[in-house]
Amino acid sequence: MWFVRFLTSSIGKKFLMAATGLLLFLFLCTHVAGNATIFMSSDVFQSYADELHSHPLIVLVFSLSLLVVFLAHIVLGLFLFFENRQVSKSRYAVTTRVVKNSFASSTMPYTGLVILAFLFVHIFGFTFSPKDIEISVTVKELLGNFFYSLFYIVAFVALTVHLSHGIWSMLQTFGVNHPRYNPAIARLTLIIPLFFLLIFGGIAFYFMTGLGASY
Ligand code: HEM
Repeated sequence: MWFVRFLTSSIGKKFLMAATGLLLFLFLCTHVAGNATIFMSSDVFQSYADELHSHPLIVLVFSLSLLVVFLAHIVLGLFLFFENRQVSKSRYAVTTRVVKNSFASSTMPYTGLVILAFLFVHIFGFTFSPKDIEISVTVKELLGNFFYSLFYIVAFVALTVHLSHGIWSMLQTFGVNHPRYNPAIARLTLIIPLFFLLIFGGIAFYFMTGLGASY
């Protein structure tokens, strides 16, 4: 079938990688917006979380879909990484497009691993937190621990580096590429990840330094 052939081809895998990356990026946008309510007050953040959990079926479908997208992104990423390594080992390899061979692009599997480790710790701490304790209290308790927050900030830096190449690569795959706009696109692939770092990292910083003591 053409569809299966497309998905198992190199370009098909790159396309799926970009599509799953886009979905994860959209998740991050909603997550950062929801979490930013922490800066308003614990009550505002708690009502946001309560509102979300008043639709358990939607939350379940969303969480399961997110898990599938994450797994697909990781498996495809590993496939492409080893495929690229095979190609670059070959004497006959020809580079057919301009590759941004930056620090971010060569460390994608490693920054990806740090994010994966973060997700295990994060989901264990937050999604599986005791249900009789309000989530706003759990956030303050966990992030109030200096080393827990420090680990978060290290992971957010890895996320920033990962996204800076990931967004660029996704746009290339989708054909968003024009000599006139490329400098602006390159700037955006840095500004957007830095924005995530500012908000997510700001939350961890807020609690680890005691600034959020009255939250
Ligand atoms: C300081 C920053 C962050 C805070 C305070 C935070 C907070 C939370 C909370 C409270 C939950 C549980 C939601 C609930 O079930 O009520 C959650 C879930 C989750 N978070 Fe975060 N988060 C942060 C950063 C991140 C980042 C950077 C990522 C991705 C790289 C991420 C990925 C997830 C995922 C995948 C879930 C599970 C979602 C689901 O099951 O539907 N979080 N987060």
